[in-house]
Amino acid sequence: MAFTIAIDGPAAAGKGTISRAVAAHFGFAHLDTGLLYRAVGVRMLEGTDPVEAAATLTPADLERGDLRGAAAAQAASRVATIPEVRSALLDFQRAFARRAGGAVLDGRDIGTVICPEAEAKLFVTASAEVRARRRHAELRAAGSDMTYDAVLADVLDRDARDRDRSTAPLIAADDAVLIDTSAMDIAAAIAAAITAIDARR
Ligand code: CDP
Repeated sequence: MAFTIAIDGPAAAGKGTISRAVAAHFGFAHLDTGLLYRAVGVRMLEGTDPVEAAATLTPADLERGDLRGAAAAQAASRVATIPEVRSALLDFQRAFARRAGGAVLDGRDIGTVICPEAEAKLFVTASAEVRARRRHAELRAAGSDMTYDAVLADVLDRDARDRDRSTAPLIAADDAVLIDTSAMDIAAAIAAAITAIDARR
């Protein structure tokens, strides 16, 4: 049986943590679609044409160690504005979404473009300052020396590019449940997500 949970939202909103927890809770497979764009972005930084990179992405590209950093994030948000890049990644994401056994996908356009028929849709957000604080702590823990101000600038810059692009812009689906995690800890955010999904099952 296919059951798709679409989790969208702006940069560093906690989609990844919530998605992994929700997937474990329901026993579903999880796809972090941001990784696809990050992998294409990194290949572009190395000189590959981004459309070519998107069409030839391999599992090894998704396992590289440099995908979580700020350079990959910025490159991702630039290649993500190219319609041909997005369409090259479409079939893989759609097939994943409808796989038997259930799937959780997190990204920007899952509930609107990739899987408008998703059984449950969440739009996870938080204030830009809270998101930047969380991402700053994450990057620091991973060994980055990026300042809070630089992380906030990256978050605001990518949000603006993601919202303003003409193809698959960042926007909540009409039928998405909004979860603002600004004042929630991670356990409360996961509990809110599971409650919203249970209501659709
Ligand atoms: O983890 P974070 O929220 O910072 O970013 P991400 O989900 O890894 O996505 C990195 C970038 O990829 C975003 O800023 C978007 O520009 C792009 N992206 C997208 O356009 N569509 C998706 N479904 C997922 C990511």
